[in-house]
Amino acid sequence: MLSEDGPGEGRGGEPESARPVPGFPGAHRIRVATSSGAAYPVEVGPGLLRRLPDLLDEYAPAHRYALIGDKQVMRFHGERVGGVLREADLQVDAVEFPEGEEHKTRTEWARLTDTLLRLGLGRDGCVLALGGGVTGDLAGFVAATYMRGIPVVQLPTSLVAMVDSSVGGKTGVDVPSGKNLVGAFHPPRLVLADTDLTRTLPRAERSQGLVEALKHGAIADPTYLTRIQELAPRLLEGDDGPTAEVVTRSVEIKGRVVGRDEKEGGLRQVLNFGHTLGHALEAASGYRLPHGSAVAVGMVLEARLGERLGITRTGTARQLEAAVRALEVPASPPSGLPLDQALDLLERDKKARKGEVRFVLLDEPGQVHRGKAGSEAWSHPAPAGLIRQVLESSFASGD
Ligand SMILES: NC(=O)c1ccc[n+]([C@@H]2O[C@H](COP(=O)([O-])OP(=O)(O)OC[C@H]3O[C@@H](n4cnc5c(N)ncnc54)[C@H](O)[C@@H]3O)[C@@H](O)[C@H]2O)c1
Ligand SMILES: [Zn+2]
Repeated sequence: MLSEDGPGEGRGGEPESARPVPGFPGAHRIRVATSSGAAYPVEVGPGLLRRLPDLLDEYAPAHRYALIGDKQVMRFHGERVGGVLREADLQVDAVEFPEGEEHKTRTEWARLTDTLLRLGLGRDGCVLALGGGVTGDLAGFVAATYMRGIPVVQLPTSLVAMVDSSVGGKTGVDVPSGKNLVGAFHPPRLVLADTDLTRTLPRAERSQGLVEALKHGAIADPTYLTRIQELAPRLLEGDDGPTAEVVTRSVEIKGRVVGRDEKEGGLRQVLNFGHTLGHALEAASGYRLPHGSAVAVGMVLEARLGERLGITRTGTARQLEAAVRALEVPASPPSGLPLDQALDLLERDKKARKGEVRFVLLDEPGQVHRGKAGSEAWSHPAPAGLIRQVLESSFASGD
């Protein structure tokens, strides 16, 4: 089921597997390697916030901490997190910015940076990024650049941030030419995902995050894929046990991939399954189609593309379609989405990448197709005519 050195397998005695956190039932720790040879711990589970002062002392000791979060997350959780830190006699300043992707900008980066300077945060300071992926990326980029780089600790609060964006070290902002085009690799010192904090997360946001978890199953672990589908109703309700289970497994899988290829030279590309078509559909919708929904459709269509190419086992697309629907996200593009624009965007993408549109394809659920050795082993070209056919047929059968 798992290819040699593929995303599903650990290396050298599985150092990246989750271990229980003593004294915290249901909580686990995963170590994630960085390209510098260092590693950082990711702790996942209910109630872990209480451990934050001790963990900071061990992994990110600082003279002062800047707790950065968007207004919505700070309203729900800012006081509690600040309180835990102050009770432990840590010096912390809370800094807010307005919520939403539209604020993941250079303007907000500049404002936050100026605020930290005004507060007098020094080189011995540390940023705590409390929130979803927008906060993790933006506050992470602030930390990456502030005084040429100070440590960041990721405190993810959304499922997207827990299963995906808080792990892997990518930080950055959006610019008028596109999303995430200006940024830096800045791995965190520590990631602490207290799954209790997701209780306030709206159901639709849970769906979006769970799509990336499903992707982890699709590329690395077929049992995990079916497990998410089975657990979907409880996951969407925000049930504690299943939530912690899924975040833990996803961090293990993503952690293994980025631990071997932090800077996307090769293996990390497997995390782009569903994303080549997903990004094109997302952009063609004028970003009205949320990222998770676009990737859900993208996974189903890329599986169908793989089936038509004779690479992916027949029935894989159907299986993904059922799993995606269980998460209450679409499995086909919304009617009215301009197909030609999506194809144009793929063409433009192609010009940017050596003249080929490349896809991560599956052999079967849980197994990524591996081509010839080298950096291109994990993605494969497909003829433009076939891509069009797959997209067109999905519109015809669309809901
Ligand atoms: N760096 C990476 O590797 C990586 C990977 C995936 C996604 N991302 C980025 O992540 C972003 C998307 O992340 P997101 O979906 O978390 O967006 P987000 O940070 O905007 O959060 C979504 C919404 O949920 C709210 N929210 C977050 N946690 C909450 C909680 N516990 N309770 C109530 N409300 C809560 C936020 O205030 C926001 O309104 C994108 O900018 C994307 O580019 C980065
Ligand atoms: Zn994604």
